[in-house]
Amino acid sequence: MKNKVKFREGKIIEVFFVEKEGKKTPIILRYPKKTDFKKVWKFFNKAIKETEFLARVTPVPMKEEKKWLDDTIRKMKKNDTVQLFAEHAGKIVGASSIRRRDNQRHKHIGDFGIVILQEYTGVGIGNMLMLSTESQSKGMGLKMLQLSVYEENKIAQNLYRKTDFIAAGKIPKAAKTRKGYDSEIFMYKVLKK
Ligand SMILES: CC(C)(COP(=O)(O)OP(=O)(O)OC[C@H]1O[C@@H](n2cnc3c(N)ncnc32)[C@H](O)[C@@H]1OP(=O)(O)O)[C@@H](O)C(=O)NCCC(=O)NCCS
Repeated sequence: MKNKVKFREGKIIEVFFVEKEGKKTPIILRYPKKTDFKKVWKFFNKAIKETEFLARVTPVPMKEEKKWLDDTIRKMKKNDTVQLFAEHAGKIVGASSIRRRDNQRHKHIGDFGIVILQEYTGVGIGNMLMLSTESQSKGMGLKMLQLSVYEENKIAQNLYRKTDFIAAGKIPKAAKTRKGYDSEIFMYKVLKK
């Protein structure tokens, strides 16, 4: 496949600075490595606690996280996934991915996902992660990205609109929340050749 991005565990893709609490803070965007599993486990379980906008509610056991990471790295080697981590001071503070659909008729579609730790939100990391993940996925030969977002998650919807995702429709009461239900909005973005 043309322009295939070569996967190497831990490869640094980009380093940039954000202004956080008045300080210039370096953020590294990089590929995962197998030894990351404890860091990812801590990161993801913190994120699950902090936000109501992830599909997962209960903590992930470390064994499951390790399996997820090994599987992700395997798929990256096969050019079926791009997974990036945002790192600061040795901690994972954000993650985003594009995963090729498995079904035969849907292999031209990549599902997009993103999550940032709350204390690192609102300073531009989401935007950088999103653009970088999309650019890293170029060699996957995808024609379209898709995602879904809960209706109450206005911040994520702003980010997605800003990065040219289009809303296709919504399913009412698709997700159970603490207070009741939330609708799920489906969005897509046709990729330029
Ligand atoms: C949604 C999320 C990824 C955004 O990441 P972020 O790092 O905060 O985003 P950025 O700082 O790069 O901002 C990107 C855009 O998001 C929107 N945004 C960010 N913070 C916002 C706020 N407080 N209010 C409204 N819009 C906001 C804006 O459109 C912003 O662009 P702008 O700065 O040009 O106005 C992050 O808030 C998050 O991880 N939330 C919890 C998990 C989640 O909701 N994941 C998505 C599930 S579908």
